[in-house]
Amino acid sequence: MSSLSTATSAASSATASRSQQLLERNKQWIPGGMASVNRATSPAIAFAKASGAYMWDVDGKKYIDYHAGFAPYILGHSDPDVNAAVVAAMEQGLSNYGSGPTEQEGTLAELFLKCVPTMERVQFYNSGSEATAQSIRVARAFTGRDHVILMQGGYNGNQNVVAINLMDSVEALGGKPVVGGEYPKCPMTAGIPQAELDLLHPVEYNDLEAVEAMVKKYAIAALVMEPVLQNVGVIPPAPGYLEGLRQLADQYGFVLVFDEVKTGFRASLGGYQEVAGVTPDLSTFGKAMANGYPIAALAGKAELLELAVDPDPNRRVLVAGTYNAHPIPVTASLACLKKLSDPSLQLYAQLDQQTETLVSGMRDIFSRQGVEAQVVRQGSAHVAYFGSQAPTNWWELITSHDFAFDAKYRQALIERGIYHFPKPTKQGSVSAAHTSTDIANTLDVIDQVVQSLVEHGE
Ligand SMILES: Cc1ncc(COP(=O)(O)O)c(C=O)c1O
Repeated sequence: MSSLSTATSAASSATASRSQQLLERNKQWIPGGMASVNRATSPAIAFAKASGAYMWDVDGKKYIDYHAGFAPYILGHSDPDVNAAVVAAMEQGLSNYGSGPTEQEGTLAELFLKCVPTMERVQFYNSGSEATAQSIRVARAFTGRDHVILMQGGYNGNQNVVAINLMDSVEALGGKPVVGGEYPKCPMTAGIPQAELDLLHPVEYNDLEAVEAMVKKYAIAALVMEPVLQNVGVIPPAPGYLEGLRQLADQYGFVLVFDEVKTGFRASLGGYQEVAGVTPDLSTFGKAMANGYPIAALAGKAELLELAVDPDPNRRVLVAGTYNAHPIPVTASLACLKKLSDPSLQLYAQLDQQTETLVSGMRDIFSRQGVEAQVVRQGSAHVAYFGSQAPTNWWELITSHDFAFDAKYRQALIERGIYHFPKPTKQGSVSAAHTSTDIANTLDVIDQVVQSLVEHGE
């Protein structure tokens, strides 16, 4: 490096934000500078601390947080009851013994199934991606079939069996799919063998005909879907859609999997399946089940999950993991679910009320300022779509939502201390730690931001 370029980079690092400096420092050792490249934002903001509804960046700036770490923090960050339980577990000398059963995993399984009574058995994993990939393995073992239907615009984790077709452009999709059609396969990662891609079939959400067409064409083992599309905001199922899927699964003998990694314990204690009154064969959970500690669950019908111990080795499904049901996240999950299910706390009613106040305030602001927007809420999850209609599927979303306005809106909120993930359509999540004052302050900032965007002709 020349002395001139050394001097230039020294000067720029002196003026770069501490977040940017930290990113550059980490990049020396970690590709992209962070452990999940999905967390990358521009400009980079590195956070140093979080408590309740708030986060602080490395420069000490405080934010009211609605990102919630991609949704887990339903009780708020660093919940004191969850923390106390974890500290007590460590002091008791709980360990991941790696041999035999533990009392805690059984107690968590019992409580989990009490919260989600539609499910009969449960297994614990470390991430939503693991649980969802395992659901497909179980479905294939059970049905003896290989093909899988997924939703365009859905996300079900980072594994080969699901990592396709989340945020594709009109060009990538090559135009509107014909009724009952299959979208082209757009892998989210290099490195998925073609043979695996050939088994995956992305269809439009809210389109029963498309599912039936795939079932008639391929030997479908499973349909895996978020019951509400929540990785592209909040797109709820049309009336009768989930019931229709249940009927098709029964008629054609495929396994219906609800990926409730995002909706689970956030839509309601019993998951979105409780809200919808439709019971899948399998469902996966993560995120809010331990308020941010790394644990996930695959739950479902006994005949499916008992394949883990099937006497026939040709039907037996491998369930193994050094850290499965590790005592720290198990303890965190127990504390979290106890709190969420405590009738004296009425947390879901509180979450509903706070989120409703927020979204109705947002609707008033957009309407008063003349901004065409649709604010959609499911429980404590919410999003603002900037367009003339709330999308019912991915195609409607990419052709109606003003992504550029959304990006500017989010950036302006962040600059004024309201943290939403700065990528268009990412869901906002209210936690039990958000107070009425936080919501009122948030609405004040949204009002200022929208007014300023309108004044600047955005
Ligand atoms: C619906 C859904 N399924 C699965 C996953 C994967 O979970 P994890 O990131 O814990 O592997 C996510 C993560 O965002 C998700 O939103």
